[in-house]
Amino acid sequence: MATPSILVTGGAGFIGSHTVVALAEAGYRPVVYDNFSNSQQSILEGLRQILGYEVPCYVADCTHRGALLEAMEREQVQGVIHFAAFKAVGESVQEPLRYYRNNLDALLTLVEVMLELGVHDLIFSSSCTVYGEPEQLPVTEHSPILPAISPYGNTKQIGEEILRDVVRAGKPLRIISLRYFNPIGAHPSALIGELPIGVPNNLVPYITQTAAGLRPELVVFGDDYPTPDGTCIRDYIHVMDLAEAHVAALRSLERLGALASHYDVFNIGTGEGASVLDVVRAFEEASGNALPYRIGPRRPGDVAAVYADATKARDQLGWTARRTLREALADAWRWEQRLQTLAPPNTESH
Ligand code: WQD
Repeated sequence: MATPSILVTGGAGFIGSHTVVALAEAGYRPVVYDNFSNSQQSILEGLRQILGYEVPCYVADCTHRGALLEAMEREQVQGVIHFAAFKAVGESVQEPLRYYRNNLDALLTLVEVMLELGVHDLIFSSSCTVYGEPEQLPVTEHSPILPAISPYGNTKQIGEEILRDVVRAGKPLRIISLRYFNPIGAHPSALIGELPIGVPNNLVPYITQTAAGLRPELVVFGDDYPTPDGTCIRDYIHVMDLAEAHVAALRSLERLGALASHYDVFNIGTGEGASVLDVVRAFEEASGNALPYRIGPRRPGDVAAVYADATKARDQLGWTARRTLREALADAWRWEQRLQTLAPPNTESH
């Protein structure tokens, strides 16, 4: 049987590009479909070096129905992994309309084109942000979905509801939503990784840029939370573990055989919580460098603690995270050091 082609929307992005590697290594034929609004062509070069061949790539937008239809028909796509979305929480608060239009229009267009072409299998990129500030920890897939605290988070909640309702209506779609916790790290080759544009919002790229001398120091956003060391707790998962979870989810859909309609949700995290100071310490051990930091005020919108109960993915997808926090930080650091060799430090663009 021919190698099944899988369309990876947003496949030139951080999680998307690592999932392209995991798909190829699992015997699939990944096809990248990306408008490059939040990525660079250099990622495709990195993929070519890792995989040893040029991954087919369509530079196009998921809201462009004609382009999507043509790509999926031409590549005889048998499944889709949908990453393509705007994902900056703060930016979504400033520009809600742009976020609702892009993230929801892209998903609706994709589902319509899949139904038109008879493509059944879809993995949807969702987020632990749907849990808001959880009452109980660790969060399970049955933990309450709290009102979204950002338009970005709301587009993930609405996206899950759209997919659930389309399957409930009996449409021939087999869909899994994966709720990611905090993806960090990079491929061990340091040929692909996270490309934060502007000042990084997320903790780990900010740490690696500080260690690379692009930032004077890390500001820890508050140490007065109700946690052991006062700093926020998150579930940091190596992006390659997260990528491999997408392959496990796809395989579980294939195991459904003739069953045409299916919807399910999985938490994809390590199951371990780590505080901001835990991450700083682990980075110092992984990199061998002391990290300059100071404690600053809390960041609005941050929850004190959230980490996953990932036993459902273990039991039903046969997947668990295998890489450690220190491995992820070592890989993130190796990627940052390579970035610095590629482009001289240009602090205003960072
Ligand atoms: C982690 C911790 C900060 C930067 C975000 C999105 C979420 C998901 C994952 C898409 C927090 C602290 C950070 C800094 C700090 N993305 N921090 N100094 O906020 O848990 O989740 O990324 O789905 O939707 O919200 O990740 O890396 O921004 O923050 O102290 O300079 O690090 O306060 O406690 P977050 P983060």
